[in-house]
Amino acid sequence: MNAESEIKTKVETDMQIKKSIKSQFIPESGIVNSHNTAEPIIEVRNLNYLYPGSKTRALNGVNFKIYPGARVVLLGANGSGKSTLFKHLNGILKPVSGEVLINGMAITKKNVKNARQTVGLVFQNPDDQIFAATVEQDVAFGPVNMGLPGDKVKSRVQEALELVGLAGFENRAPHHLSGGEKKRVAIAGILAMRPKIIVLDEPTSGLDPSSSNKILHLISKMNRDLGMTVILSTHNVDLVPMFAEWIYVMHGGKLEAEGTPKEIFSNSELIKKAHLRLPRIAKLMELLKEEGIDINVEITPATAKDELMRIIQNHSAKRYGN
Ligand SMILES: Nc1ncnc2c1ncn2[C@@H]1O[C@H](COP(=O)(O)OP(=O)(O)OP(=O)(O)O)[C@@H](O)[C@H]1O
Ligand SMILES: [Mg+2]
Repeated sequence: MNAESEIKTKVETDMQIKKSIKSQFIPESGIVNSHNTAEPIIEVRNLNYLYPGSKTRALNGVNFKIYPGARVVLLGANGSGKSTLFKHLNGILKPVSGEVLINGMAITKKNVKNARQTVGLVFQNPDDQIFAATVEQDVAFGPVNMGLPGDKVKSRVQEALELVGLAGFENRAPHHLSGGEKKRVAIAGILAMRPKIIVLDEPTSGLDPSSSNKILHLISKMNRDLGMTVILSTHNVDLVPMFAEWIYVMHGGKLEAEGTPKEIFSNSELIKKAHLRLPRIAKLMELLKEEGIDINVEITPATAKDELMRIIQNHSAKRYGN
């Protein structure tokens, strides 16, 4: 096969994989990236949780709703309750009071297995999730557990590894992989189960900038191309504006606020209270504003560039009259 037809075959195979996965993942409602326009796919009602032996509530009256196809970030400082909340979304933890509804149905002992197939949770620490001797066996664990036949398991594993860019890693030992590769194996293990909703706990923590970007790119792709509902937690405020469509802010076991990234990052009181900070870009714009420059505070590099170009062009027009 010559190089050109090899590339063509590869592209066609990739497209087939994408098509077959997409048809499985698209939410039944067909609604993508909608907030407040459909029935919530996840609803958390007045959730309270206390770890055994602890006197402080790790979750304190949490209410939130996630809509099909949404791209949501749970933002909160260390110990604010992000991982605890996520572990309730597929029934790993059972609330002390309150409830979690998936597609309108409360998670119970009877349906928890279904809930875990609908909501795939990628743990904060991949070592808590990866335990098989090879990458292939690890990614196959979910599909095998779902009772899928051998050939289906194999194709699911292949698809998931292709998606996370780890094709060829099948026989590698997970404990010999880098941190970023382990995170991608953990994501592949969840993708192989084809959940409608993927919940990722700190997917970029401990990763270098390039690996963080790759992971975020992958997550955006899963949302955009496969129509998956994506919820991720982080305290990396610089990454949030590039990804989030909607943000929930968590502090001391409570959800303090929700809104668009622009709404959240223009509330300096809230940011201070939640022990967070502004994205670096927004901080620079605020400093310029404090210098008396009539500038809108933008929060992403692209929108900040446009705003700075506007200011510079206005300035030179005033100065040189053109
Ligand atoms: N197994 C446990 N037993 C007792 N307390 C716990 C346990 N796990 C977490 N906690 C406590 O519950 C609270 C919330 O912890 P959680 O891990 O949910 O926070 P987080 O927002 O995920 O933090 P991080 O950003 O550090 O991951 C913290 O006060 C923590 O000390
Ligand atoms: Mg955590």
